[in-house]
Amino acid sequence: MTFRKTGSRDISVTIYPPVTRILHWLVAVLVLLTWPLGFTISFISKEWSLDFYMIHESLGFLVLWIMLVRVGNKLTAEAPEAEGNKLERFAASTVHGLLYAFLIIMPVSGFLATNAHGFPFEWFGLVPIWSPIGKSPEIAGILSGIHWASAWILLGLFGAHIGAVLLHHVIKRDLTLYKIL
Ligand code: HEM
Ligand code: HEM
Repeated sequence: MTFRKTGSRDISVTIYPPVTRILHWLVAVLVLLTWPLGFTISFISKEWSLDFYMIHESLGFLVLWIMLVRVGNKLTAEAPEAEGNKLERFAASTVHGLLYAFLIIMPVSGFLATNAHGFPFEWFGLVPIWSPIGKSPEIAGILSGIHWASAWILLGLFGAHIGAVLLHHVIKRDLTLYKIL
């Protein structure tokens, strides 16, 4: 599929197929809700914090399943050819690849950490989710540490991603943004 823009310059770009675009925005919305909720938990009074945990964990858990579908889609769906020089193509594929990896590490580490701290997870308080580990104080801190560090790495990757979007849209004024809209 192609997006064409006419005007002072006539330019066009091949865009991602609909499924890829929908998956991108589903995950983007969920992550943009889940991340700030996770960050806020420690500032919330005891009275509300359990609700915050439940919503954070349940939205974050959805990210895991959508990401698994997304990996399958990535391996099978057509994608527009990458543009730019060798370095730009390398930077884009590295950041995209790391985003995929950390979008899986985040929910897995959070889920295992919750169980290791002794709080079995029920999706939206309704569906109990089986866990391969139970209460395990000896590894709970390590899993929380992985979740915490990954959260900041993910934020850094998101910053680089938005930086690249702005570079294309505002400075180079090309059609990269339209590939995913
Ligand atoms: C894309 C998915 C997720 C993102 C972006 C995310 C992000 C965050 C952030 C930014 C924090 C605050 C930093 C910290 O103190 O660690 C946090 C904390 C936390 N998250 Fe997540 N999270 C995700 C998924 C999950 C899931 C699926 C669970 C559990 C089922 C979970 C459980 C927790 C818990 C229990 C905390 C409190 C700190 C701890 O004990 O590790 N998170 N999360
Ligand atoms: C909030 C505004 C966002 C905008 C404007 C945006 C824009 C874009 C654009 C234009 C592309 C296509 C890049 C190309 O192929 O040359 C793209 C791809 C991608 N974006 Fe975003 N994005 C946003 C949020 C996010 C978020 C929150 C995440 C994840 C944390 C994310 C992860 C990705 C990934 C992994 C790709 C690679 C495409 C794939 O292979 O699935 N994006 N984004």
